[in-house]
Amino acid sequence: MTSTTTPPRITVLGTGYLGATHAVCMAKLGIEVLGVDVDERKIAELAAGRVPFYEPGLAEELSTALESGRLRFTTDFDEAARFGDVHFVCVGTPQEQGSDAADLRYVDSAMTELASRIHKHALIVGKSTVPVGTAARLAQLVTEVAPQDAEVELAWNPEFLREGFAVDDTLHPDRLVFGVESEWAEHLLEDVFRPIIDAETPVIVADLATAELVKVAANSFLATKISYINAMAEVCEAAGADVDVLATALSHDGRIGGRFLKPGLGFGGGCLPKDIRAFRHRAAQLGVGQAVAFLEEVDAINQRRRTRTVELVRELAGGDLRGVRVAALGAAFKPDSDDVRDAPALDVARMLYLEGAEVAVYDPKANENAHRAYPDLVYVDSLGEAAHDAEVVVLLTEWDEFRHADPALLGYVVAERRVVDARHALDAEAYRQAGWEYRALGHPAVASVRETSLAPS
Ligand code: UDX
Repeated sequence: MTSTTTPPRITVLGTGYLGATHAVCMAKLGIEVLGVDVDERKIAELAAGRVPFYEPGLAEELSTALESGRLRFTTDFDEAARFGDVHFVCVGTPQEQGSDAADLRYVDSAMTELASRIHKHALIVGKSTVPVGTAARLAQLVTEVAPQDAEVELAWNPEFLREGFAVDDTLHPDRLVFGVESEWAEHLLEDVFRPIIDAETPVIVADLATAELVKVAANSFLATKISYINAMAEVCEAAGADVDVLATALSHDGRIGGRFLKPGLGFGGGCLPKDIRAFRHRAAQLGVGQAVAFLEEVDAINQRRRTRTVELVRELAGGDLRGVRVAALGAAFKPDSDDVRDAPALDVARMLYLEGAEVAVYDPKANENAHRAYPDLVYVDSLGEAAHDAEVVVLLTEWDEFRHADPALLGYVVAERRVVDARHALDAEAYRQAGWEYRALGHPAVASVRETSLAPS
């Protein structure tokens, strides 16, 4: 089965951000791929060449993959079981309602539905982010439910792609992690990822538990790094210091580095927030809750960014938000995405609204998803419409469209030139020179010495 010439045929179960990208990219690498989902609408969209979410570059790659004949989609699990030598499970593991734990029902169901239909020697590979120990339980589950004529093994291959860079991250990952229980599984995964391995991508072979942990440990580290610099922003505000200058100075230390050290409104999305909570929950179950107790503080610092942003808007508006017209720029949890899951931007817009502000939200791609999540807010179709007559403008997601807006032109549209730059994405000096009152978390309320000294006389 471990042919090095013909790659194994794969299925990808779950065609969301992760699964759809994985399916498309594997077909691009020359593999025969069958994408599977229980959602008929999603499968119909993908089969017709339409990506049901916004991810730069993915629609073009999907069309090419469909045209190559190597990528097909189905809702039929029997077909998937017959087709695949390797099955990647990419379904969601959201936060459980009313708890910090991960909700594993979709993973359990996908594994059961698939394994119970397999009649050959096949490898099931989990890609979803799960609490450590889940893979060991699932390895037993798939063996139990598989028919007698099947030989089914489980492996874990965590995924580190970022939304907005999903295609590139999948084709050129920093590393591949194979959590395996046999050499057969290891070689099969090598066959699948051959072109990526040939490009000298490091491969880390691990046991199932370590492979599961790599993912949560990585996301916890990234979340901690963001909250660390945001904690420094709190100190900067109290001390009259400037967190952006501080972050730049820290970034030149090669041991620290500048990535994920960008202060502002903090992290959101479908991964970081729920992953650190699920990790704490799992560690407590394992009796080592204290080891990751700091993640509670990481979460708390992150949440405070949101309330502090609302405070800044309130301060700029004169202390009371009732009836104040606010332009909320952005709803997605980050630019180049239409994802509003745990989006700091949308959360701030909602809090402003609940304090009585008249909020007009504009996001270049996420308006529709945001409207579905919070139908009470007013959504508009352009930056100009959002800013029209606004008394405070608040930048919540750093889309290029907002970064490159001309402060002088924007100044003509608004009622008051007041801006809160919650993502530290605007040119503070240019805004101040265009007559704006500019505020950002962790910045002195007045222009810093650097900005003043740089300003032309
Ligand atoms: C993350 C991980 O990066 C990825 O490896 C994993 O597979 C899934 O989770 P993603 O959720 O797509 O990816 O977004 P990411 O680019 O990591 O950003 C997460 C959040 O952190 C965003 O809300 C972003 O605005 C925020 N962020 C990021 C900061 O506030 N400051 C930073 O310096 C970096």
